[in-house]
Amino acid sequence: MDRLAGTVLVTGGAGFIGSNLVRHLISRGDVSVVTLDKLTYAGHRLNLGDILGSPRHVFVEGDIADRALVARLLQTHAVGAVINLAAETHVDRSIHGPAAFVQTNVVGTLNLLEQAYLYWQKLPPSDRALFRFVHVSTDEVYGSLGCGDPAFTEASPYAPNSPYAASKAGADHLVRAFHHTYGLPALTTNCSNNYGPRQYPEKLIPLMILNASNGEPLPIYGDGQNVRDWLYVEDHCQALLRILEAGTVGETYVVGGSDELTNCEVVGMICDMLDEMHPRSTGGSYREQIAFVPDRAGHDRRYAMNAQKLRGELGWTPATSFPEGLRRTIGWYLENPQWVREVQTPEYRQWIATQYGGRSSA
Ligand code: NAD
Ligand code: TYD
Repeated sequence: MDRLAGTVLVTGGAGFIGSNLVRHLISRGDVSVVTLDKLTYAGHRLNLGDILGSPRHVFVEGDIADRALVARLLQTHAVGAVINLAAETHVDRSIHGPAAFVQTNVVGTLNLLEQAYLYWQKLPPSDRALFRFVHVSTDEVYGSLGCGDPAFTEASPYAPNSPYAASKAGADHLVRAFHHTYGLPALTTNCSNNYGPRQYPEKLIPLMILNASNGEPLPIYGDGQNVRDWLYVEDHCQALLRILEAGTVGETYVVGGSDELTNCEVVGMICDMLDEMHPRSTGGSYREQIAFVPDRAGHDRRYAMNAQKLRGELGWTPATSFPEGLRRTIGWYLENPQWVREVQTPEYRQWIATQYGGRSSA
């Protein structure tokens, strides 16, 4: 029995993590993938590149909240597993407009669960036993740690602080309830901050790489001492596949790299690597572009993940150290100016103006 031998429905597959995951799945040779993505500002066909044409890949533009569409895709493609990555994902945008987060992350996930349940119920027993629904969530549902606190585990209480985190928490609770109440074979993963190729440049690392190389300020919120636990996106994808293959239904798995760094440390490393890989035409260090700006409202101080359960039970370990992954990521952004141009749409420029225009240096 191989859970990775049939058709996997990947929602949000044209986004950052989703497109990396779809590439992994297609590269295995024994899996077919249906990608369902609404192509919001964060989703781009070009993230899927040449695998858009793969005979084992079907791309569908659509909304996870569309009942008829989801029901049809499950049936038509005889889906054996769903991996749900579709979401509104940026904390700063959730502060400006939480409603879209509730619509996709909560209502959309509820629809996926309902359609998956209706479909799963009617499968023949052998297919029912193999079917999985993997819901991809975040460490942010656990709230914020103090500097001496132990890292989050699967047993940590939910305490979401941003509208984004609250909407992801709502979805996680629905997934739990669908397993508990209806027996849907669902699993939830809670992962720390990802970084790597094709991350939309509203998030810290790509924003800093692109602002630096464009000679623009590097806006660090508050005192820059907030800590995040960084994981290279490919390591996250490996964890998701391992959980799909061998995770226990009804369980949650914490995923993290144990690479805790302050935002100042991350931005400093980006500057130092860029100084070496792409020196400033005007001389001097990119560090000169760092600008401390007023803090994000409700900014969580520290996230850290203890992935011992995933390591111990499923034998997963991250393969990429932060310096190695960061160097690869910077290299990718420098080598892909066409991608950068295409995702920096007028909407993107409008977002940057709204978010940073009124934020003069603190
Ligand atoms: P992303 O913003 O890059 O991509 C999200 C994708 O979802 C986009 O392609 C978008 O078009 C699509 N989408 C949005 N609404 C949709 C809808 N209603 N129907 C169908 N598609 C829709 O996000 P990402 O960073 O790739 O994150 C993917 C998932 O992983 C999210 O669920 C996120 O909460 C979770 N996660 C992300 C991180 C991280 O650091 N990026 C960490 C932990 C968990
Ligand atoms: P982000 O990439 O938005 O991820 P999250 O908020 O989900 O952790 O931000 C990572 C950290 O970087 C977070 O502490 C906020 C901070 N940050 C800045 O200091 N400046 C910025 O311009 C951005 C986007 C983030």
